[in-house]
Amino acid sequence: MTICLGLEGTAHSFGAGIVSSEGLVLSNVWDMLRPDEGGIHPREASQHHAYLGPLLIRQSIDDAGISPKQIDIIAFSQGPGLGPCLRTTATMARSLSLHLGVPLIGVNHCVAHIEIGSLESGFNDPVTIYVSGGNSQVIAFAGGRYRTFGETLDIAIGNMLDVFGRHVGMRFPAGPKVEKLAKMGSTYHTLPYSVKGMDISYSGMLTSARRLFDEGLPLDDICYSIQETAFGMLAEVAERAIAHTKKNEVLLTGGVARNNRLTEILQGVADRHGARFHRVSPPLAGDQGAMIAWTGILQYGVGDTLEISSSGVLPKWRTDEQDIGWKE
Ligand code: ATP
Ligand code: FE2
Repeated sequence: MTICLGLEGTAHSFGAGIVSSEGLVLSNVWDMLRPDEGGIHPREASQHHAYLGPLLIRQSIDDAGISPKQIDIIAFSQGPGLGPCLRTTATMARSLSLHLGVPLIGVNHCVAHIEIGSLESGFNDPVTIYVSGGNSQVIAFAGGRYRTFGETLDIAIGNMLDVFGRHVGMRFPAGPKVEKLAKMGSTYHTLPYSVKGMDISYSGMLTSARRLFDEGLPLDDICYSIQETAFGMLAEVAERAIAHTKKNEVLLTGGVARNNRLTEILQGVADRHGARFHRVSPPLAGDQGAMIAWTGILQYGVGDTLEISSSGVLPKWRTDEQDIGWKE
């Protein structure tokens, strides 16, 4: 059995998780920077990781009930993400790898969101809808890589919810608050619905939603309209990807996968196509270390390790830029 400690620190959250090669999550702890107002400042987030990282790593080892000597591999989120956050996390990972004398693995954060979902669902080859604060992608495996079939042309769905939330006085993250209010809304107000080929755009509907709020329309109705429009756009692209690829598994992952209405809509799409559906469970949906640790184990299995000298961070690393050797 191989045991991997995974460190996640691409953006506002720092996480440490320990996973075994049998796919058991032995521990998974994280902490998120929640600014009182405004968005995430990269330097503040990296300071948060620098202060709390060592404590969270210690806690993940204690929670797993192992000693540091039992760790066989160190994996870290090498990208994509905010430079200062990535560098702080990479420094911790390199130090641990050197200190324990174990291999270092650089994990693509987006690939990790997919792999933890595949582990949990048992899916082999899903169409994945990956939705978070920084990403909105419809992904499927083809020719050795995770290919992006469709994605947002401007802002990510989670970011759209957070920016709207900030405009109306909600604290970050706004996604859960928008979901709660949307349940009480009943009147649909038309918002720009923008699907271009396989890609989507959220900035137009964000501007319109803010305007509706400024005009004094009830907030619950606006939240309801935002959800129905934004999720409808994703469903259309997902549906086309399923029809095109003829895959029979649909996976919903990323922080916005916590949304029950989105889950319900995509479950419906999967049902219509006779495909199995899985929504990653809330503790594994957002950013955390277990997904990095599990992907680290998969990469280790195909010898995908890093020398310290070539372990620089990759802030713009795309999902489809990594060879997925363990799936061949
Ligand atoms: P990535 O780096 O993968 O883009 P991230 O840094 O945005 O990830 P995640 O934890 O994956 O981090 O996602 C956070 C996002 O999820 C935030 O935008 C938040 O508003 C959104 N979110 C969380 N819960 C819900 C919910 N119930 N409904 C809608 N959105 C949600
Ligand atoms: Fe994420």
